[in-house]
Amino acid sequence: MKAIAKAHTNIALIKYWGKRNEALILPTNNSLSLTLDGFYTSTRVVFKEDLQKDTFLLNGTRIEGEQYNRVTQFLDLVRNLAQKNIYAEVESINAVPTAAGFASSASGFAALAAASSKAIGLELSDSELSRLTRQGSGSACRSIFGGFAEWQQGEKADGSDSYAVPIAPQNHWDLRVAAVVLSAKMKKVSSRAGMKRTVETSPFFKGWIESIPSEIDAIKQGILDRDFEKVGEIAEANCLKMHATTLGANPPFTYWLDSTMSVMQSVQALRASGIPAYFTIDAGPNVKVLYLPEHEEEVQQTLRSIPGVDDVKLSCAGQGITYLGDDEFV
Ligand code: ADP
Ligand code: DP6
Ligand code: CO
Repeated sequence: MKAIAKAHTNIALIKYWGKRNEALILPTNNSLSLTLDGFYTSTRVVFKEDLQKDTFLLNGTRIEGEQYNRVTQFLDLVRNLAQKNIYAEVESINAVPTAAGFASSASGFAALAAASSKAIGLELSDSELSRLTRQGSGSACRSIFGGFAEWQQGEKADGSDSYAVPIAPQNHWDLRVAAVVLSAKMKKVSSRAGMKRTVETSPFFKGWIESIPSEIDAIKQGILDRDFEKVGEIAEANCLKMHATTLGANPPFTYWLDSTMSVMQSVQALRASGIPAYFTIDAGPNVKVLYLPEHEEEVQQTLRSIPGVDDVKLSCAGQGITYLGDDEFV
């Protein structure tokens, strides 16, 4: 009853920002992402008859508290599905900063869902696995797939039609993403808390939701046509709208640092100088820059020269869930 799974993070080009059901993690809008090769989680799950409770080791450290509770509550769902009352040892390694706005919850819960469901003997289709994964962290349901994936919000109250579907595979388009590291510190407001406060208090939330359907349709067409300007423009605008909703919340908040703004302005300056590049930002200060392979040198140089930039990590499109052998778990 053991399995090891590897999952990559994804960057949302159309953001998931708002829940209609917090317990089931049902979103208020469809979202769309690109899975990233450069950031991932590997997780080993071993179910054992003699355990009295689950244990969780993250990057070699024994975890208790909120992060432990999220893992064990997720394993309860897996136990329920399998109709088996048995605890697990979970060991996970994040090749991504944890809780810093690099989507560790996406790779983390996708890897946990895949490893735990396999270890307990469930044989799930990709859609079933995505639907299960969604209940660990919403954004994670898109990381089941490589390349571009859309999380369809669904309509049903029980969430049975809320899961991600593939839009275009990893090899469809060599789109690149530079992750600009400004701070790898844990954020003060988690994604979960931030979107909850926004839904409950921000008057801008209504406008956010109204703008999504046309953006989703247009960006999907842009992806299929490999139309970089179209995809970049929509992604950048969608990111700015999402972050605008936090300024309208009560109490107001923002994930940005002043260096976040500097990077955004540098990307816009790159564009003005004729190099197509666009930014997007998840729930954190760090910026992801979309570009095409032929502009990698200029984009990288520009980003590295901005004051406040600690590192720039280049990534291409990543693959979906894979299962590893024991000797591959490092
Ligand atoms: P992020 O931007 O990193 O996704 P979130 O606030 O959405 O930030 O989620 C961070 C939380 O995700 C962590 O505090 C932890 O509860 C959970 N998480 C991160 N990595 C893992 C992992 N490898 N296994 C299980 N849970 C994880
Ligand atoms: C801004 O999936 O981390 O990155 O479902 O509460 O775990 P929970 O939240 P999470 O939220 C991600 C928010 C986002 C946008 C996105 O990834 O779509
Ligand atoms: Co997250």
